[in-house]
Amino acid sequence: MAILITGIGELTTNDEVLGTVHDAAIVVDGPVVAWAGPASRAPDADERVDVEGRAALPGWVDSHTHLVFAGDRTAEFEARMAGEPYSAGGIAVTVEATRAAGDAELAANLRWHVAEAARQGTTCLETKTGYGLTVADEARSARIAAKVVDEVTFLGAHVVPPGADAESYADLVCGEMLDAVASSVHWADVFCETGAFDEAQSERVLLAAKQRGLGLRVHGNQLGAGPGVRLAVRAGAASVDHCSHLSESDIEALAGSGTVATLLPACDLSTRQPLAPARRLLDAGAKIALATNANPGSSYTTSMNFCVATAVLQMGLSVEEAVRAATLGGAQALRRGDVGVIRPGARADLHVLAAKSRTDLAYRPGVPLTWQVWRKGKLVA
Ligand code: NIG
Repeated sequence: MAILITGIGELTTNDEVLGTVHDAAIVVDGPVVAWAGPASRAPDADERVDVEGRAALPGWVDSHTHLVFAGDRTAEFEARMAGEPYSAGGIAVTVEATRAAGDAELAANLRWHVAEAARQGTTCLETKTGYGLTVADEARSARIAAKVVDEVTFLGAHVVPPGADAESYADLVCGEMLDAVASSVHWADVFCETGAFDEAQSERVLLAAKQRGLGLRVHGNQLGAGPGVRLAVRAGAASVDHCSHLSESDIEALAGSGTVATLLPACDLSTRQPLAPARRLLDAGAKIALATNANPGSSYTTSMNFCVATAVLQMGLSVEEAVRAATLGGAQALRRGDVGVIRPGARADLHVLAAKSRTDLAYRPGVPLTWQVWRKGKLVA
């Protein structure tokens, strides 16, 4: 059954030909977009929904979250706000709680957060393992995630678990652990940072994952300067995430590569790190994505609206650039052509705002602006 969504005051498509269309309409047929363009030229459909002049854009593509977890780190957040620095060591607290939780509890917590994200316009979401850190716990995290989200990333190389030796743990990740998760995930990631994995260990993990046919991602340059970006580019990773501490040569390397710089402003604020240099990256010609990094430690939010507002208000992006990074940019970071864009054949994922223009996302920060969310052609919020 085809549905005509009409009365769209401003439609952001991210399509090179369509661009931004005023007084627009979309025809949705099953899970895909059948047609998009000016309302005056819209074809007939079986049903009609009038959004009465509101703005619409592709659903958010949140390409970086860590939502297979249990437990609570409110006290760590409070200590940080009182001046304690963020460190990778806090991850161990969530690891302990996650290992102790049953499958049903982990699945319910994940579904709860994915539903929270969907109510705010997120229609495509990636999540990672990384709070299990044993073969059995990583494998079950991957299995649970594969039933719930669009994209699953193996992050066995999140931190070295307490009591383990880094080299032997990296061996485990590269062998038995990757074998156990490979059928449930598309991606592998490594936290290449002081306090987590060094460059040689990180490269080993990436090569082992590549040999098993997985796509690559890297957590890099989050807490300080380091080799993460260079490694990601060298390995042909789809994205390098965080990028809060970049040198000019890191920016140049990204600009000359197919690796997307995924920026996580909510995390930068919550961990009191510098905001990633979004403007310099774009000006240099690098591709960027914006994502929430939703996790209980460094960034406990599922709000892509907040990330977009921050990118405009504090990182020097225009609203158009920020919206693009949070939709098409996320799709590029996940190497997907079917989301983050509105054009015939794309997945019918649409975020209708309680506003006439996308500008309100930054002009009215903190205001709940999601009016309707369509995912795979169905109204989900
Ligand atoms: O992306 N950088 C490493 N991993 C997460 C933090 C997870 C945590 O603190 O629990 C991140 O910030």
